[in-house]
Amino acid sequence: MAPPPLRNAEDPQALAGQKIFERIGCARCHREKLPLAGGGEIAPFTDLALHDMGDGLADGRRDFEAGPRDWRTPPLWGLGLPSKVGDTANFLHDGRARSFAEAILRHGGEAEASAEAFRALDKAQHEALRAFLSSL
Ligand code: HEC
Repeated sequence: MAPPPLRNAEDPQALAGQKIFERIGCARCHREKLPLAGGGEIAPFTDLALHDMGDGLADGRRDFEAGPRDWRTPPLWGLGLPSKVGDTANFLHDGRARSFAEAILRHGGEAEASAEAFRALDKAQHEALRAFLSSL
């Protein structure tokens, strides 16, 4: 399936949000660009890697190389599509988060510092980040 096209990518608020996304370390795992083996690159916002996300997200299971606290960074493209937001939004591996903010606040472990930086954002910065995530 082709990745969904970006919406409102030129919106100044979304662009400000993208800067915040980079500054508070989200892009460390949700990497904006990945090179393709055959040349070129895609923008899936994932590093495809496993990360220790802390006890809060642990499922108590070991799956192959993944320990109970390890999760693979999901791509963020399509995040803002109407099918993913609204009353039925479900994020994280078990769908427990009902909003972007809740998903981010549940980041622990290696992503703890990013979640802390997210908490420290002011209202305008929160809105900009949300506008950016909705544009994906
Ligand atoms: C250390 C790596 C790491 C960092 C840093 C990180 N994330 Fe994540 N993110 C993940 C992983 C791994 C998951 C999946 C966790 C799960 O499924 O329980 C995830 C899940 C998400 C989801 C839910 C996606 C979905 O489809 O369910 C959103 C939204 C998200 N991250 C946004 C952010 C934002 C915004 C930041 C910066 C504040 C950030 N992340 C920082 C690794 C990271």
